[in-house]
Amino acid sequence: PRPLHVVALGGDGIGPEVTAQALRVLRHMQARHALPLVIEEMPYGNATWRATGRLVPAATDAAIGRADAILFGAADSLGRSAMPAEERARGSLLALRRRLNLFANIRPVRTERALDEVSPFKARTLRGVDLAFVRELSGGIYFGEPRGIERLEDGQRRGINTHSYTEEQVVRAARFAFALARGRRGRVTSVDKANVMEAGALWRQVVGALHHDEFRDVALDHMLADTCALMLNRDPQRFDVILTDNLFGDLLSDAAAGLAGSLGLLPSASLSPPAPDGRRRALYEPVHGSAPDIAGKGIANPLAAILSAALLLRWSAGAEAAAREVEAAVSAALSAGARCADIALPGEAVLDTAGMGDAVLARL
Ligand code: NAD
Ligand code: IPM
Ligand code: MN
Repeated sequence: PRPLHVVALGGDGIGPEVTAQALRVLRHMQARHALPLVIEEMPYGNATWRATGRLVPAATDAAIGRADAILFGAADSLGRSAMPAEERARGSLLALRRRLNLFANIRPVRTERALDEVSPFKARTLRGVDLAFVRELSGGIYFGEPRGIERLEDGQRRGINTHSYTEEQVVRAARFAFALARGRRGRVTSVDKANVMEAGALWRQVVGALHHDEFRDVALDHMLADTCALMLNRDPQRFDVILTDNLFGDLLSDAAAGLAGSLGLLPSASLSPPAPDGRRRALYEPVHGSAPDIAGKGIANPLAAILSAALLLRWSAGAEAAAREVEAAVSAALSAGARCADIALPGEAVLDTAGMGDAVLARL
């Protein structure tokens, strides 16, 4: 088979710092398992814009066109206010998600016993938490039309975004979530605001009908998004797969970071529908952003990026054993006391970004 083409885009802020460690791990696993990967590192982001006038220069654009999988660091969208609006839109993470038709964003959240004291939750709340968000990534209020800022007759401005979903968008995300649950504990919680929004009411109907027609072996419950925010901190063990829309999935997955212990631990995979040959295009990135408050210091936790590389091994390279080895090495490093500043208790010794990369590699 042709090799898997991986394009690494470190991007902004801590993105390049954590992606460098993920690439060390990926290259190690490539050698160890003789995986047919071609890895290209390409410039992207705000520094690239300052140097070239483009967020995505032509060579990067072409590499993205060739990519089966993108290993993405972070995009500092807030740091782009000086750029022309057109360039901002063309180079945004949303444009990339749209270009690759990434509709299913998987965000797994697991707890590690070694981090019980780091988490703001009690140990009895954390035990056995093992959930995965399936965040619909191609629709909802992120992409709905009309959108924009308009001038009203009385002179004031009005900002407009539209929360909208087609049945097809809901079905493909829901089908993905049900199939994922079959390989886990067989439970899907579908999260919406069916009580307030028409798009939410439609979401609930469509998920329910698909469940009835094709997935009766999976347990389905529906939950309102505000209740889900509560249940994530009161009874997180109840969740297996949480299927939700683009905006709720963004918020609820950050809210779940406290369970894991830090945002610096949460990876994600974003997948396109399969092509006729069965291959999907995909992007792997930490759930966190560019963290301007700690960027450039070499202290960011690279585990979310390293675990994103593990998801790449699983979902794009078909290398399940290699993915599990990386995940086990991360667990082992944490059990042995490896800590970056975001997960250290007062007085504990702290590793820098590269030191955490070393700690994981030492266990591979
Ligand atoms: P953020 O996720 O970048 O940071 C939130 C907090 O978590 C900060 O205190 C940060 O220091 C900490 N943090 C995040 N990742 C960490 C890590 N790996 N190790 C240690 N600490 C970590 O969110 P923000 O500061 O609100 O946003 C900054 C920029 O990032 C914004 O421009 C935003 O749009 C962008 N963003 C991008 C993505 C992405 O690229 N996928 C995701 C979220 C936010
Ligand atoms: C995320 C981020 C992005 C989102 C931003 C940077 C566009 O917060 O991936 O979680 O809101 O989807
Ligand atoms: Mn987010």
